[in-house]
Amino acid sequence: MRILFIGDIFGRPGRTIVRDKLKDLVREHHIDLVLANGENSAAGFGITPAIAEDLFDLGIDVLTTGNHVWDKRELLAYYASANGDLHSPARRILRPANYAPDLPGWGVYEGKKNDVPYAVINLQGRVFMASNDDPFRKADDILKQVKAKNILVDLHAEATSEKVALGWYLDGRVTALVGTHTHIPTADERVLPGGTAYITDVGMTGPFEGVIGVKKEMIIDRFLHNLPMRFEPATGDPRLCAVVIESDDATGRARSIARVMLK
Ligand SMILES: [Fe+2]
Ligand SMILES: [Fe+2]
Repeated sequence: MRILFIGDIFGRPGRTIVRDKLKDLVREHHIDLVLANGENSAAGFGITPAIAEDLFDLGIDVLTTGNHVWDKRELLAYYASANGDLHSPARRILRPANYAPDLPGWGVYEGKKNDVPYAVINLQGRVFMASNDDPFRKADDILKQVKAKNILVDLHAEATSEKVALGWYLDGRVTALVGTHTHIPTADERVLPGGTAYITDVGMTGPFEGVIGVKKEMIIDRFLHNLPMRFEPATGDPRLCAVVIESDDATGRARSIARVMLK
């Protein structure tokens, strides 16, 4: 199975470059399954049901999120509307699995693409972030229940150490662990000895002429003055950051992982 994982889609510039590039990318790399982190797809903050459905229409199979998941409150009602229906598109928008269990939404999705069963797990780190449940033990619990061999984990986390540690912890038990959230791609992609593809951060799909997606003048001003303000997305230099992972269908072990950055 060949999996494309697209890093945090940020605002309209991110959505536009996905619209412009995804079809060719899928054809060129013979992609079976397309995953993306969509936590910043609505003007940088959260995701709306309409934007999620547009992204599904563009060819994304499952969306993951992270700390911005609740920025657009419509998502809560959208989750409620799914009402346990496994075929609702809301079911294919994940929120981190290690959030409070009584919150709406799901942190795991199991599906089938081109006849190959797969699972996507969304987790969030705890270092320099909200104190959610332990993502390590949560991963253990989830993996006891998941039936698919091809398993992709999005660890949405700030600290590189936490991402590297969970990569080693899950080595040999999942197809890939990819990091998101910092919006800056890292150059450490590799297949770990047990067969898990790993990268600390996939990077952002959005405007690089800014500070991790936001207008650079605003962020510089924030560092200079610390005044509260409403951040606006940057627009210039949109790029698409992703990884392509190839796995063995039968064992779920990764064969390769390669970084992609398109302008
Ligand atoms: Fe993000
Ligand atoms: Fe984030």
